Amino acid sequence: MEFYDKVKASADFISKRIKESPTVGVILGSGLGDLVDIMEEKEVIPYREIPGFPVSKVQGHAGNLVIGRLGKEVLMVMQGRFHYYEGFSMKELTYPVFVMKLLGVDKLIVTNACGGINRGFKPGDLMLITDFINTAWSNPLIGDNDERFGVRFPDMSEPYSSELRERAVKAAKRLSIDFKEGVYAIHQGPYYETAAEIRMYDRIGADAVGMSTVPETIAANYLGIKTLAIACITNMATGLREGKHSHEEVLRIAEESGERLLKWVKEILVSEN
Ligand code: HPA
Repeated sequence: MEFYDKVKASADFISKRIKESPTVGVILGSGLGDLVDIMEEKEVIPYREIPGFPVSKVQGHAGNLVIGRLGKEVLMVMQGRFHYYEGFSMKELTYPVFVMKLLGVDKLIVTNACGGINRGFKPGDLMLITDFINTAWSNPLIGDNDERFGVRFPDMSEPYSSELRERAVKAAKRLSIDFKEGVYAIHQGPYYETAAEIRMYDRIGADAVGMSTVPETIAANYLGIKTLAIACITNMATGLREGKHSHEEVLRIAEESGERLLKWVKEILVSEN
C-alpha cells in the first residue's frame, strides 16, 4: 500500500470514532503534565487499535490518542510519543503527524525534557524553542515524495511559527510565567551526550539538547502545520553540571515544571490571539 493510503486508512478509522475533527495536535514530553485531565468530551483510542499506527515496544508506556475539547479547540493528544532511539524510522515515528494532517489539524504543540547548554539556564527553566539543529542526521522526508502531503523541497526558515510564538509570549506575560528562548539540537541518544559533544553543540549554536521534537517539527512544517515547541530544561548538559545524569532526575524536574507548562499551554490554547 502507498504511504498516503496507509495514512488515510488510519485517519478514516479515527474519524469514525470521533464527533468533531481535531484542529490542534499535541505531543507531550515525559513527565510534562497531563493535558488530557482538563479536556472534555474525550475519546481515547489505543494506538494498537489504529490500523498502520506505530506502537511503542517500551513496557508501561501509555499508547493512546486522546481526542477532546479544550475551550474552542478540539485537541488530538498523543499519550506516549515515539523516539528515534527506540529503533523507529524517522517516517514511522512521525506517522501520527501525517495522520493529524489528514484529520484537519493545522497547529501542533510539542513539549520535551532536555539538557541546558546556555550558561544562563538552570534546571526547571522553560524554553520557547526558536529554531532547531538536526543533528540526528536523518529526517522523515527522505524517500519518495507524495505531493498530496507537501512539496519535495520544503522551506524550513520558520520551523516554529512566529504567530504561535507571539501568542505564547503574550500568554506567558499574562500568567507571569518566566521563560527562556533558544535553539534546540537533537541528539540521537539514548545515551546522554559526552562532554566533548556538548562543547560541539554549544559551538554550533545550540542552547539546549534533547532526543525528540525535531522529526515531528520537520514533518509538521512539510505538511503545512504551524508548530510551537516548549522545552523543559531538566538538567544542565554533560560537563556543565555536578554529578551524573539520571532519568529519575529528568522525570522529577519535568514533573515539578509540568504544572507551570500545562498552565501555559492551556492559556495559549484558550486565548483568542
Ligand atoms: N541530554 C539529552 N536529552 C535529555 C537531557 C540531556 O541532558 N535531559 C533530558 N533529556
